[in-house]
Amino acid sequence: MPPLRLAILVSGRGSNLQALIDARDSDVLPVNIVLVASDKVRAQALRRAEDAGIATLALDPKTYPSRAAFDAELFARVAAHRPDLVVLAGFMRILDAAAIAPWQGRMINIHPSLLPKYPGLHTHARALEAGDAVHGTSVHFVTGELDGGPVIAQARIATRADDTPDSLAQRLLPREHALMVETVALLAARRITLAADGIALDGTPLAAPLQLDANGRLAG
Ligand code: GRF
Repeated sequence: MPPLRLAILVSGRGSNLQALIDARDSDVLPVNIVLVASDKVRAQALRRAEDAGIATLALDPKTYPSRAAFDAELFARVAAHRPDLVVLAGFMRILDAAAIAPWQGRMINIHPSLLPKYPGLHTHARALEAGDAVHGTSVHFVTGELDGGPVIAQARIATRADDTPDSLAQRLLPREHALMVETVALLAARRITLAADGIALDGTPLAAPLQLDANGRLAG
């Protein structure tokens, strides 16, 4: 099976990108990272990609006349690298539905909440304000609806009485990294598919998102 060709879109710190690079380098993830692209020229994530010898692309949205024009250019440049999968890993920009459509089933995002709870921003604060005993993170296929596509897999953590949004985010981050790597590993093994009736694992429809277990592995 040829390694899955990944294009990874980033806006900031790039710790999820780093988790994918590290997994690739330790031979646990058979992927070829063909491009790391960003809407933020100074993103730390771009430096991580450069350090790993991965091709990078930075486009400044302010230099485009419209969102649609930026997205069209971005995805034309992404497509030129022939990725099998586009991974949004801390890509903090809303994408035009027209730009997403050709990538349906071939684009995933990691979002720091137990979707469908808390799409959008400030997810940790919102979970604490709601008094949630359990919080988490989700990897989902990207559709035109913000943080709204079918959820492939989730990781859950317990909240604590003394949690702040920062402490919760910090505790969740290593689980995000494991979730990202494990989910991409299933996709790299061509075990996950998206059809009109939903996500399937090894051809069997998923009744609910896969869950990351205590050992950092995905289970049905
Ligand atoms: C992560 O919390 C991810 O869930 C969210 O943005 C953050 C990105 O972190 N979408 P990093 O850039 O991967 O370190």
